[in-house]
Amino acid sequence: MALTREKKPEIPQKIGKYNIIREVGRGSSGTVYLSHDPFYGRDVAIKLYQEVSGDDPREQEAARKMFFNEAQMVGRLQHPNILPIYDAGEEDGRYYVVMEHVHGARTLSAYCRADNLLPIDEVVRIMFSAVRAMHYAHTRGLVHRDIKPSNIMLTIDNEVRVIDFGIAMWQDAEISAIRGVAGSPSYMSPEQVKADEVTPRSDLYALGAVMYELLTGRRPFKASNLAKLLHQIVFATPLPIHRIRTDVPEDLEEIVWRAMRKKPTDRFSSGLEFAAALTQAHQSMRNARDVMDERERVGLLRGLHFFHDFSHTEIRELMKAAAWREYAARQDIVRQGDMDDRFYVIVSGEVAVESDGKQVGRLAAGDCFGESSAVPNARRLATIRAIGPVTLLQVSSTMLETLSASCQLRFNRTFLKNLIQRLHGHPAR
Ligand SMILES: Nc1ncnc2c1ncn2[C@@H]1O[C@H](COP(=O)(O)OP(=O)(O)OP(=O)(O)O)[C@@H](O)[C@H]1O
Ligand SMILES: [Mg+2]
Repeated sequence: MALTREKKPEIPQKIGKYNIIREVGRGSSGTVYLSHDPFYGRDVAIKLYQEVSGDDPREQEAARKMFFNEAQMVGRLQHPNILPIYDAGEEDGRYYVVMEHVHGARTLSAYCRADNLLPIDEVVRIMFSAVRAMHYAHTRGLVHRDIKPSNIMLTIDNEVRVIDFGIAMWQDAEISAIRGVAGSPSYMSPEQVKADEVTPRSDLYALGAVMYELLTGRRPFKASNLAKLLHQIVFATPLPIHRIRTDVPEDLEEIVWRAMRKKPTDRFSSGLEFAAALTQAHQSMRNARDVMDERERVGLLRGLHFFHDFSHTEIRELMKAAAWREYAARQDIVRQGDMDDRFYVIVSGEVAVESDGKQVGRLAAGDCFGESSAVPNARRLATIRAIGPVTLLQVSSTMLETLSASCQLRFNRTFLKNLIQRLHGHPAR
């Protein structure tokens, strides 16, 4: 043990009471180690910050106070999407923070590459959680100040954990600005670049910039040198999202612009407002998907012989009185003797027709059943059972009466024709 430790002298054996197991990552502000907490008997992650520069003892004392204040405030946060901090300390002039260790964690950096983007609705879900977490912190007086993809982690179950909370605060503004520049200034808000006041809206800006990158795989601003980059953050407009990824809905793009406005007062007023906009965008994406589903379904129905005489408009209209139903193998669809006012058309799969416990026939895609629905108060003459998985269009006779006369006529005629064919030697298979 001791020998292997000696080979890697840069890895401390212990930090405070915590045994170091190995390094898990390194950033611009320090190094993260997987460690073990002997008291609780659990794994933890420890972030050991770089040594504080400057030798004015008064400044150092101020920084020290700020660090512990900040760590304490973050330690009090309790939110499912904020990584909990357990402890903080100082060792050999270096500060450290002890936090929950997330096994198999990834950060959002993995999904900022054009060849590894997440589905759009997943981006919306992740952003929603991150924005909510940030709102919670803001209402408790904390500003993160360093929101970027590498500070938002995903657990194995794809749950969001915001990390590295507010810790930059303990260094003076100048140092944290330099650190930001040394790390990644791409997510710094214009007011941070200009060394103006940093507020919760600075975090909302950074969240907007992260969202831009998750949607496009590109940072909103890119320049050949730092001065140009900072100039862009203050003055330039990023390339429109729809020019990079065509399937991003307009309202989602609008959300990114709103969050990234140069003037803080032009942005969302709070994380809550940001989250509400995301919910609304998510809802309209869902509706759009339903429209897509309907289009697909109309296409499927048009291919069935039952609908050959129907116009496109009539199918669409009929679907208003219909429901799409899926049945598993061997599931009863209608039972002999039941009263039921619904017609069925088989979209895919096969069903068995049973009368008094005996199979009397089979029906397949394009066939219909439920003829007793046409007779008021009639009972089902047969039991219909799915043979394999079956998809059906279920048409309620009550709903049918609300459709146009021509559509009703078309449906009734086709239904009748189908039944007659069955009686005349094209029986149920
Ligand atoms: N609690 C944790 N559990 C598991 N892995 C972690 C944890 N915290 C950090 N890591 C890993 O350590 C890596 C380094 O984190 P770190 O915060 O030091 O770097 P960074 O975010 O890239 O840069 P910066 O220092 O600017 O924040 C992260 O990318 C992540 O993979
Ligand atoms: Mg980090």
